[in-house]
Amino acid sequence: MTKRSLDGVEVRGRRVLVRVDFNVPLDEGAIADDTRIVAHLPTIRDLSDRGARVVIVSHLGRPKGKADPGLSLRPVADRLGGLLGRDVGFVPTTVGQAATDAVARLRDGDILLLQNLRFDAGEEANDPGFADELASLGELFVNDAFGAAHRAHASTVGVAGRLPAFAGPLLLREVETLTGLLRAPHRPFVAILGGAKVSDKLGVMVNLVGRVDTILVGGGMANTLLLSQGCEIGRSLAEPNLVDQARVFLDDAAVRGTTVLVPDDAIVAASIDDEHGTIVDVANVAGDRAIFDIGPMTAARYAREIAGAATIFWNGPMGVAERPAFAGGTLTVARTVAASDGTSVVGGGDSIAALGEAGLLDRITHVSTGGGASLELLEGRSLPGVEAIPDASANG
Ligand code: 3PG
Repeated sequence: MTKRSLDGVEVRGRRVLVRVDFNVPLDEGAIADDTRIVAHLPTIRDLSDRGARVVIVSHLGRPKGKADPGLSLRPVADRLGGLLGRDVGFVPTTVGQAATDAVARLRDGDILLLQNLRFDAGEEANDPGFADELASLGELFVNDAFGAAHRAHASTVGVAGRLPAFAGPLLLREVETLTGLLRAPHRPFVAILGGAKVSDKLGVMVNLVGRVDTILVGGGMANTLLLSQGCEIGRSLAEPNLVDQARVFLDDAAVRGTTVLVPDDAIVAASIDDEHGTIVDVANVAGDRAIFDIGPMTAARYAREIAGAATIFWNGPMGVAERPAFAGGTLTVARTVAASDGTSVVGGGDSIAALGEAGLLDRITHVSTGGGASLELLEGRSLPGVEAIPDASANG
């Protein structure tokens, strides 16, 4: 069931509270990547063009209920204004008199960004009082923050119960694309999963068994699968407490016809700071070495699978991609996914960064703005922020 959208809703002159995900990476206070801001521009521009008084709220980082000047949204307001080519007001508080006054001064089409929601402990606690205060700032509520939809917070769930609530276009597109992958993918469907910890991805891998044709595993998380197959992995990162679950997953995949590939060879080194690694067969990882990337044979094998896929989902790097010595596997995957004529969906900051650095992002069918949210959706879980919005049948 699709969620209630803003199509055909009269917003002129109305205060529209818009939850976005402006949780952008920062580098010494500067915005390191504005992909998430850019992703929300059409929603904000459309509401402003339609004469709404646009009141934007977002979180940034994890300040844990306290004001942290390093996590102020002020630089984001400046960047947003620059990208839109319009004035964007900023209030250094989220709720309270200053916010209420600034909202009251808005004219039709004006855009205002409030301070970081998570400076108030009421946000993450979904505190009723905080949700009331937020709701008092708008007449309609739009949730466009797909990246935060897996959080049951005041600005995602609380407000949705207090104002007429609608799904924003970005949130709708994300949900449709990702659930579409599970519903009716063109085959072969290949999922590529990497990253440091198998504990972050085991739920997704389990849910993808029987739904995808092949799962390619890389990154530190592959080490736990290798461990479960009896490989010695030296000093490589692993989660030995998950070896039994990893084995159950591999057995289940074999029974249900999903091929799971783990690395045959790897790049190992004594330390993550080493300038160069050595290629070894995964059966020959010395006790004082650790795996930091998939090897060239594995990368070539994965590339063949990806090249033959009609649908691709990729989340997570194949190695320590921020270190040039261990970036080769991730780069091969990025290039092969980008070269595919099939449908490609990519989520997760590191995979997106690898594609961005290689200048390949525009070759991807859908780049998801949600890290945890996209994984939870593919795990088959429902997202509280989406559930809180009425279904489309409630339109009109
Ligand atoms: C994200 O970066 O995945 C979202 O903005 C959610 O952030 P959180 O994990 O801090 O809730």
